[in-house]
Amino acid sequence: MSLKLAIEKYITENRRKVNLSIGENLPSANDRVSRAMRYAVLNGGKRLRPVLFIAVFESLGGRIDSGILTIASAIEFIHTFSLIQDDLPALDNDDYRRGKPAAHKVFGEDIAILASDSLLNAAYKILLEEDAIAAGLKVKIASELMRTVKILISGQEGDLALTPRKPAGLLRLKEIYSGKTAALIAACAKIAGILRAVKAGELRRLNSFGMKLGLSYQILDDILNVTAENKAFKGRKFSDQRKGKITYVSLIGLRKSQEIVENLMRQAKRELAKIDKIDKGTLFLLADFILQRRY
Ligand code: IPE
Ligand code: IPE
Ligand code: MG
Ligand code: MG
Repeated sequence: MSLKLAIEKYITENRRKVNLSIGENLPSANDRVSRAMRYAVLNGGKRLRPVLFIAVFESLGGRIDSGILTIASAIEFIHTFSLIQDDLPALDNDDYRRGKPAAHKVFGEDIAILASDSLLNAAYKILLEEDAIAAGLKVKIASELMRTVKILISGQEGDLALTPRKPAGLLRLKEIYSGKTAALIAACAKIAGILRAVKAGELRRLNSFGMKLGLSYQILDDILNVTAENKAFKGRKFSDQRKGKITYVSLIGLRKSQEIVENLMRQAKRELAKIDKIDKGTLFLLADFILQRRY
């Protein structure tokens, strides 16, 4: 099997496991908030964050069980909470998400806001009620997630303040991207490290790996906003330009943005390479796969 096929198979298999756990953890009731929660989570996300979390965990010698899959689901719930809010008229005012109408277009803003709140709440609930994880670890993970959500919200706040009248320099933009996107991606790597009880220095490297990967992920998102052809970008192509959003592409252009993405990915891999006890094979392939994403 080629390496590309091997990593695609790895992602598909783990995405399937994560989706099963997500299905079990979502509410099954028929009220509008529950339906909106299901709609937003199940409408075709790539599950990059849960898969990354699992890949780091396995690369550190961990074995997947129901507790790990519950953490993976909690991470995806938090990601989806942020996406529902991000698309609201008060924030990015995007009508489409993952190629389909955004939650607020289907259920209305009121229900979308409540569904977003409920997903954040559910993330902590499913984690703290999971019997397969030791109580002390659950608290550590919940607190790491809470710290991350705080940073994500600051990043979103910074992003909202960016307008063509008040543009930011590259340094400020990097700070905002680190908050709104990279922090949660880094938390995936860090939580895997916490579960495997790695030393503080290694935890810092895992965090740094995730921050670099996450920053490159967001810059790639800016690039795809201009270049993507995939139907998952339906209704969103050029949306940054239409809204006059300040992005890496608007500040330094496509070619330089692409160079930065590749450079950050090299740096991310170097951080991993410094960690002794981690099997780098899958993670390097996953990083390359992410770099080549088209949607
Ligand atoms: C979208 O994240 C928001 C960004 C931080 C770029 P993803 O591109 O991972 O979204 P889904 O979950 O696969 O739709
Ligand atoms: C998404 O940032 C970050 C969060 C949702 C926290 P963007 O607003 O730049 O990403 P897309 O393009 O809407 O997914
Ligand atoms: Mg946004
Ligand atoms: Mg947005």
